[in-house]
Amino acid sequence: MRQRLLATLFLIGSLTAEAAPLDRIERPPGDWRGPVFEPRFDFPKTARREAHPWTAISFRKDPKQYLRLLLAYALDGQDRSDWRLAKNNVRRWYHVPWLGLDATGREFIHGLTRARDFAPGELGPAQAACRQNWGLAFYNDLGGAVLRKIWGQGQREPNLNALPFPEGTVAVKLVFTEASQADDAKLKGAPELLANIHAATARGGLACAPSTDAAGKPAPRTPQSLRLIQIDLAVRENRASYKTGWVYGSFRYDGTMAGDDPWAKLTPLGLMWGNDPQLSDADAAAGGAPRQSIVFAAGKGFGRGGRMNGIADERASACSSCHMAAQWPTVAPMTAPGSWTEAKCWFRNLDARYPFGFPPGVEGGCSDAAALESVRALDFSLQLAVALRNWSMERATAAPVATGIGRLVRTGGTLSVGEHESLNLKR
Ligand code: HEC
Repeated sequence: MRQRLLATLFLIGSLTAEAAPLDRIERPPGDWRGPVFEPRFDFPKTARREAHPWTAISFRKDPKQYLRLLLAYALDGQDRSDWRLAKNNVRRWYHVPWLGLDATGREFIHGLTRARDFAPGELGPAQAACRQNWGLAFYNDLGGAVLRKIWGQGQREPNLNALPFPEGTVAVKLVFTEASQADDAKLKGAPELLANIHAATARGGLACAPSTDAAGKPAPRTPQSLRLIQIDLAVRENRASYKTGWVYGSFRYDGTMAGDDPWAKLTPLGLMWGNDPQLSDADAAAGGAPRQSIVFAAGKGFGRGGRMNGIADERASACSSCHMAAQWPTVAPMTAPGSWTEAKCWFRNLDARYPFGFPPGVEGGCSDAAALESVRALDFSLQLAVALRNWSMERATAAPVATGIGRLVRTGGTLSVGEHESLNLKR
């Protein structure tokens, strides 16, 4: 096994015709002398025993303290200049495999993947042009042990029976932006990170550089320094298990705060543990507020109907609403549509036992039991959804499969898909 993992690590980054077992990441140019991303895929067999201080705090009664303890845990011992997970001597964190490969996939410098852009003006009137955002996410030991069962045992198919993640699993996502202090005063002094992001086209203009060119091929990229704007946290919580099973929280960097330590300038925005199914758009417009989200700046939630969401996230959605759509194959979009009649499907409270299923109007629509038999829940991990799509694309390229679109093949309890066209991962 050890040898196999070493062999795997050796192959990462290779763009040769052979399939690399855990990822295929773009290669640095030959003359590159800067840092190069080192994925951490040496997943543990078992997680180490450790204290989880936030479990002593009620996330409902003292959400700020709960979030502070979680953030301290996420930052503890980390290499905050290059985010090399292996440099952390306090605890182990792991990357999700198979996030390279597609046009928005892992770049070679620090392993970031492209996230949702800031449209012009989103950060305020000073932000005239669109700005790219790029994310870097990782799971703690408990999550790593699940990733090992899914990917790391040398089996040909990802083993989704390893899900759900156990209580205490923590996932962290750092969001770095192309925007600067000139766009938003709050970005003053933000920690920076170099990343190979999409290069503006010769035409320039106010739009963000697309991730693909006119022919649908991955667009050119160029190294650029980005700034930390958001840190997202997700924790598997037994106390939320009567809702979604996860608590989601977010911090925003605020450089207008006094002091010299930028890491002390991360301000908590709020948290959520359920989607408030009863809160319709009309109710929210009439002054109704969510009960399963706590947003600290009252009435200023970045999510739908005042639900919790991050500053860089899609406003028609909310953290746990979007993540609840993590399933394989991805047969429904992540983001809720405009009309509440359909959107309410995205604001149910489903836990890891129930896949999201098909969207309204397709195959019997929202929560059709028969359709659900062919779809597997990914326990709210959207990185896993992206990874499975990439893995299936890689496999399709390596050995084209002639099955019908989205047809599922069940093999010994694990699941694979014949084609990837049915996937609908809109960011
Ligand atoms: C509209 C969709 C959407 C919303 C809303 C959203 N996310 Fe995500 N999130 C994603 C996608 C897609 C990924 C995986 C790809 C990536 O890492 O960029 C992801 C990845 C993550 C990860 C890494 C683990 C995982 O599940 O893959 C964490 C942690 C996370 N998000 C937390 C949050 C939090 C906290 C919020 C709210 C403040 C939030 N997200 C809102 C789409 C969303």
